[in-house]
Amino acid sequence: MSESSRLTQLHARVVELARAQDPYAHIFAGREFRRDYVAGRTMVWSTLFKDMRDTTTRVLEIGSKEGRSALFWLEFFASAHLTCVDLFPEEDGGRFDRNLAAHGARLRKIAGTSIKALGLLREENAVFDFIYVDGSHQRDDVMIDCLGAWRLLRVGGVMLVDDYTWKPDNPDAERVAPAVDTFLAWHGDAEMILRSHQVAVRKRPA
Ligand SMILES: C[S@@+](CC[C@H](N)C(=O)[O-])C[C@H]1O[C@@H](n2cnc3c(N)ncnc32)[C@H](O)[C@@H]1O
Repeated sequence: MSESSRLTQLHARVVELARAQDPYAHIFAGREFRRDYVAGRTMVWSTLFKDMRDTTTRVLEIGSKEGRSALFWLEFFASAHLTCVDLFPEEDGGRFDRNLAAHGARLRKIAGTSIKALGLLREENAVFDFIYVDGSHQRDDVMIDCLGAWRLLRVGGVMLVDDYTWKPDNPDAERVAPAVDTFLAWHGDAEMILRSHQVAVRKRPA
């Protein structure tokens, strides 16, 4: 078996174990998913963001796909309204709508590119307590997403970025890390609270 098949098998096993032990599994049960980018993360998220659970009322997610992480934020931040931005291609968009159908009153869906959505939200003077950046993995798009999201984040709020260590052998332009590193170098007001496959930063007063 090749090294990459072995790693794929190992990853599938880890996902299976994480799902079996996930105390949030009930929120995904009976929903329609083709992919799982959340397995193994709910425990880290619920521990790391515990202190802001009750005070978080405005959440933005860039990259929602079928709505799995969106379902988690709605469950975890129980009094929050969630804005979801994605290209929402037809099939994923349909699954997102069906998976989130019960949450209509707490949800805003913006279909289109993140650069357009971030501009729209800025024009509306939107402010968020928590932002999850999990859209495009291209360096320049991630840079735009981080910078645009940061302007919408309140002081004391948290921005979480996925896939920091994604595909380390890709050229720089096709990785997340160079954008996050540049963002961190520019932003002394970003206090690191997590640095692993995901990076989380809390916004300090400027
Ligand atoms: C990894 S998936 C998100 C997974 C989701 N957060 C979850 O955990 O269930 C990345 C998503 O980003 C979206 N995306 C990619 N480029 C984008 C862009 N420029 N603007 C908005 N969304 C984008 C894709 O359509 C895809 O659904």
